[in-house]
Amino acid sequence: MTTKRKYDIVVFGATGFTGGLTAEYLAQHGGSKLRWALAGRNPDKLKLVRARLADLNPDCKDLDLLMADVDNAESIKNVAAATKVVITTVGPYIKYGEPLVAACAAAGTDYVDLTGEPEFVDLMWLRYHDLAKANGARIVNCCGFDSIPHDLGAWFTVRQLPEDVPLKVEGFVRAGGTFSGGTLHSAVTAFSRVGEYAKVRKARHSREGWPVDRKIGSTRQRIRFVREFSAWAVPMPTIDPQVVRRSAAADERYGSSFRYGHYVLVKQLSRVAMLVGGVAALFAGAQVKLTRERLLKLKDPGDGPSEEQRLKSWFRVRFIGEGGGKKVITEVSGGDPGYGETSKMLAESALCLAFDRLPRKYAGVITPAQAMGEHLVERLQAAGIQFKVLES
Ligand SMILES: NC(=O)c1ccc[n+]([C@@H]2O[C@H](COP(=O)([O-])OP(=O)(O)OC[C@H]3O[C@@H](n4cnc5c(N)ncnc54)[C@H](OP(=O)(O)O)[C@@H]3O)[C@@H](O)[C@H]2O)c1
Repeated sequence: MTTKRKYDIVVFGATGFTGGLTAEYLAQHGGSKLRWALAGRNPDKLKLVRARLADLNPDCKDLDLLMADVDNAESIKNVAAATKVVITTVGPYIKYGEPLVAACAAAGTDYVDLTGEPEFVDLMWLRYHDLAKANGARIVNCCGFDSIPHDLGAWFTVRQLPEDVPLKVEGFVRAGGTFSGGTLHSAVTAFSRVGEYAKVRKARHSREGWPVDRKIGSTRQRIRFVREFSAWAVPMPTIDPQVVRRSAAADERYGSSFRYGHYVLVKQLSRVAMLVGGVAALFAGAQVKLTRERLLKLKDPGDGPSEEQRLKSWFRVRFIGEGGGKKVITEVSGGDPGYGETSKMLAESALCLAFDRLPRKYAGVITPAQAMGEHLVERLQAAGIQFKVLES
């Protein structure tokens, strides 16, 4: 349990693209009472970030800067011991993320990240869930576009449906935007590690206790035309459906049995082939060292879309929920999914853990809906991300 810490929040990775945006969000929306600091390995870069933040909010001119390098375990432990919550955008997480999770689990410090890497999440669960739980630390992965709109959107949809009956929810994602160097490096790294991931997934599966009296599963995944949206749905095997199903396993409100399916929505059938081909090409390229290195050179870490590009970006996730004789259609929507809204979701998650009166029912390596549920939905709505019932 976190008591008497010098800071409410420390941002680790603020010298990078998404961490910088997250720090800007806190400078503008964190409020005057927020006690926070920046952490990183390069003091000159950190000072430049602090100067940028002071242009947005003069109170930031004296923000503390903590020296922390993933390769120096002591420096990471010092960060975890100094704060109630750590935000980290230091990725690829499978490469750089473990020392901070270990330090937070040991120190009882709450933690949020932006990973969309299933191997990292499962490995952290295997290695640190029990320790974090014993120390009251909430290690909340996937607090960006992966997987907040989907996890909390399913949570919101379930609450429009009757209780104690079998429920089926499907999520359909549409988005426009581009990606950063950090995201490219994380995706290529994850694609190149399918063998390692399969082992970790199996180990978690055999150790994790799922409810015995409720069935949690997937809907049948296939490419199909969805009449309600006049568009084609293509199964999307990202981390999001796993996160939704874990939230469902932890909460009886998801029904006596719960099935979830996750899709990307495309208007024309010709684009289905382009989408499937594009992902298959990236996956194939990531398997071979030479092509993997070429793919990684397409964008450098630290690069990301311009403000103009981000302003044009958007996302919309629609859900069809059914159960107990009722059918609802809901929607979660907002602006730039990858960066503008991701940094907002991440910062609001940290503020939620630091300041909201959350039921301390769950600790350990847990999902956003488990850790924060309605409190985070309310925060995101107040910050301009919409949760709506379109049809009921
Ligand atoms: N799931 C989502 O929705 C979503 C959206 C956006 C981003 N992401 C993920 O977020 C992560 C960050 O993306 P990004 O584009 O912001 O990446 P980035 O610009 O490359 O930033 C990476 C950060 O990590 C720091 N770092 C690297 N090695 C370090 C070390 N040994 N010790 C301390 N700090 C170290 C860098 O510090 P220096 O400046 O000193 O190099 C930098 O601050 C990626 O994993 C990406 O996939 C996820």
